[in-house]
Amino acid sequence: MKITVIGTGYVGLVSGACFADVGNAVLCLDTDERKIELLNAGRIPIFEPGLDALVVHNMAAGRLMFTADYDTAVAHADLIFLCVGTPPEEDGSADLAHILSAVRNIGRRVQRPTILVNKSTVPVGTAERVKRVIEEELGARGAHIDFTVVSNPEFLKEGAAIENFMRPDRIVVGSDDPHATAIMRRLYAPFSRNHEKLVEMDVRSAELTKYGANAMLATRISFMNELANLAETLGADIEQVRRGIGSDPRIGPDYLYAGMGYGGSCFPKDVKALLKTSADHGQDLRILDAIEAVNASQRNILFKKIARFFKGADQLAGKTIALWGLSFKPNTDDVREAPSLALIGELFAANCRVQAYDPVAGIEARRVLLREHGEARCQTLFRMANSAAAAVEGADVLAIATEWKEFRSPDFSFLAAALRHRAIFDGRNLYDPQFVASFGLVYHGIGRAAPM
Ligand code: UGA
Repeated sequence: MKITVIGTGYVGLVSGACFADVGNAVLCLDTDERKIELLNAGRIPIFEPGLDALVVHNMAAGRLMFTADYDTAVAHADLIFLCVGTPPEEDGSADLAHILSAVRNIGRRVQRPTILVNKSTVPVGTAERVKRVIEEELGARGAHIDFTVVSNPEFLKEGAAIENFMRPDRIVVGSDDPHATAIMRRLYAPFSRNHEKLVEMDVRSAELTKYGANAMLATRISFMNELANLAETLGADIEQVRRGIGSDPRIGPDYLYAGMGYGGSCFPKDVKALLKTSADHGQDLRILDAIEAVNASQRNILFKKIARFFKGADQLAGKTIALWGLSFKPNTDDVREAPSLALIGELFAANCRVQAYDPVAGIEARRVLLREHGEARCQTLFRMANSAAAAVEGADVLAIATEWKEFRSPDFSFLAAALRHRAIFDGRNLYDPQFVASFGLVYHGIGRAAPM
């Protein structure tokens, strides 16, 4: 099939490359000409395991192309995917500016019956809004062209996006048009034997499914974070509790890890957007309010523990904290809403120095920190180390904000010798507290029994 993909962010690029890989002719459009130049030179603007090889391979095979030109993009296919960002507005609602501008650009140019598939995360009712905009544009030039809008939300996880796309748990297709549904079935056949992964539904339900899924996962995380804080007070261990809870098949083992709160570009934004949608419709989703509030306070948890260890935030000035991990989770360079940045912000406010190391997110984190805290503050308080060991040199204590594999079994004897105050603050519960303690290190995890 011929497919056009609008937007070459995470979702667009991964979807485009995967659709091309199973034999479709895919043209991806982005209005950012520099990005298109990079992509045409075979350079991938984001870090995602396996993506660069997949893109380069399919470009070489002539199945994956990039353009910044809407005329070419709209003429290429009658199946057009919308994969543009929907960042949060001030009030939490999803900003549809990119969607609506893409849709106008399509509506102005389209010449033949077209299926517009929305993969961006959008509030319920957006498909109808998109349809109205297209009709307006068609009406303005007196054109009569059949148009269908399908909702096909994306459930990719950063860091595992290709695997998630190639072997999906489910493919949600929201469509009110049987012909469009049939085309979507054909398109997704290579990813779902006998169409068994396809979950067909109406458009509004598909739009709500995306928010419902992310809000449910965020709920589990916030619940476990609250339970972890209680476990700590009660002298119980949340890791043992997690295994006990997760082995119930009705609950399952995933998304039960207590930590520093959820981050990334999706959960925080989608929980806020769903809250806004419910408020707009006169309903108070109280549970979502609580999820948000718990997450906001959990982001400060490691700072609170460090401050308590030093007997007050005012005692932190002049101290040096080694920080392992900056990305919001492993296998990505994405630092959007990363708990590490919240921690660094608090440490800076206490005039505490940070020596950070991350396998891939260093450059991105530095860029954000410079923007948020300014050159002078970063110059005095922040240093990027080029290895986990180098970050620890001369530091008072170690904090861990991302569970990269290379942090999982460190040389504890080295840490005990290098850290002035011999303490580890583990925001990801990577270690066995007793094992760490056997090296003479003080260990503070999340929801682990307080050290005696
Ligand atoms: C999330 C969803 O998992 C995807 O299904 C969805 O497609 C995507 O949002 C999206 O809407 O586009 P992602 O943001 O890439 O994917 O990251 P996750 O792996 O789900 O992690 C989100 C956050 O939750 C991270 O900060 C992670 O550290 C945290 N988390 C996750 C926990 O604190 N505990 C857990 O048990 C699991």
